[in-house]
Amino acid sequence: MHTPTEERIIRTAKNIYGSLRLPGDKSISHRYGMLAAFAEGTSRFTNFSTGADCASTLACMEALGAKVRRLEDGSVEVTGVGGRVTPCDAPLDCGNSGSTMRMISGLLSPQEGCFTLVGDDSLSRRPMERIRKPLEAMGARLMLTEGHAPLTIEGCALHAIDYTTPVPSAQVKTCILLAGLQTAGTTTVREAVRTRDHSELALRAFGATVERSLDSVSIQGPQKLRAIDAAVPGDISSAAFFLCAAALFPGSSLVLDALGLNPTRAALLDVLTALGARISVLNLEEKNAELVGTVQVTAPPEGLGSTSISGALAAQLIDELPALAAIGPFTSGGIRIRDARELRVKESDRIALVVRNLRAMGAEVEEFEDGLDVPGGQTLHGATIDSGGDHRIAMAFSVAALRAEGETRIQGAESVAISFPEFFSLLDLVAER
Ligand code: S3P
Repeated sequence: MHTPTEERIIRTAKNIYGSLRLPGDKSISHRYGMLAAFAEGTSRFTNFSTGADCASTLACMEALGAKVRRLEDGSVEVTGVGGRVTPCDAPLDCGNSGSTMRMISGLLSPQEGCFTLVGDDSLSRRPMERIRKPLEAMGARLMLTEGHAPLTIEGCALHAIDYTTPVPSAQVKTCILLAGLQTAGTTTVREAVRTRDHSELALRAFGATVERSLDSVSIQGPQKLRAIDAAVPGDISSAAFFLCAAALFPGSSLVLDALGLNPTRAALLDVLTALGARISVLNLEEKNAELVGTVQVTAPPEGLGSTSISGALAAQLIDELPALAAIGPFTSGGIRIRDARELRVKESDRIALVVRNLRAMGAEVEEFEDGLDVPGGQTLHGATIDSGGDHRIAMAFSVAALRAEGETRIQGAESVAISFPEFFSLLDLVAER
């Protein structure tokens, strides 16, 4: 059980106005950090994620022999192990981070040595069968604890596979690609829904050859990686809370600079546009194959309309769904979400917590096994919110609180540090009271 240590009071806002530059994308930082630590040479990153999750990845890689330095100008320098990690006796602590645990398992399975991976209570409840199956098909020796962490890997030589992922998951895809990178032959991952492609782009940036088709990614092993210097784009999943907040206030204007706009991550912009928000994208550039740009959002004077999210879109928007659900009551026609069963196995059961907290604020909402219906045209009141120690729940309800009548207390507010420690101070900067 998570014990909350911090409560934040969020007051009603009159408007959202300003310009922000957000810390580096969590998914990209995990990958840059892990690949740099595995590569040969010293990589330097500016705007690396400030979240605790990416610190878990760096700490695990340090325990495996990489060197990490945080420089005074805020950049991070990582000197890699040149393709061979140093086995360590102590368990590798992945903290709250599913990305760290799943991706590092692929990296370590073909290495020499025995490795134990542990995580916090939330991570220890999350499904790990999804990585055991493909890794075992490659010949890996991986022991789980009733389908979960702690997990132990006895490294050994693997063989290449052609694998179709049953659940769309970029973490699972990355796990297999990182094992394939070190394995003779061509390893292919096929997916019905194209998940975020940061690993494919990052592997190429670090010098690897990766082949792609519309629904598959292949890597031929073994290949070596070499160090890079890179600026990490701002995190669009963190931006989601600000974009949704701005979309709620007619007269708002919010500009987000140097934001990551990778097409496999940017579906939220289409959904907000469909809801009626005015969004413009400027200064679009490509950096290490990642798209970066400036996004400006203003709310429609007539208020937000309605939308329905299901199928592939639900998978692509999975991290943004709590924020969208939380603004649902303030739309005119409501928000319907389906095919999002994966939300139940994230850092918390996000469907259950969104439903419970919306009801605590006086909203009407209907829960489904794979989603929820949030009718529009509702008035919410301030309430005590149980974040369940889940960063995205804490932030989503901080956004709903801006339009609620009266104060809202966010319990477990410290959880925002998992992905976005600066969240509350940046919200104070742009929320006009
Ligand atoms: C992530 C992939 C997604 C996402 C998570 C980060 C990644 O999880 O929810 O926050 O960086 O690859 P799945 O791969 O399990 O869908």
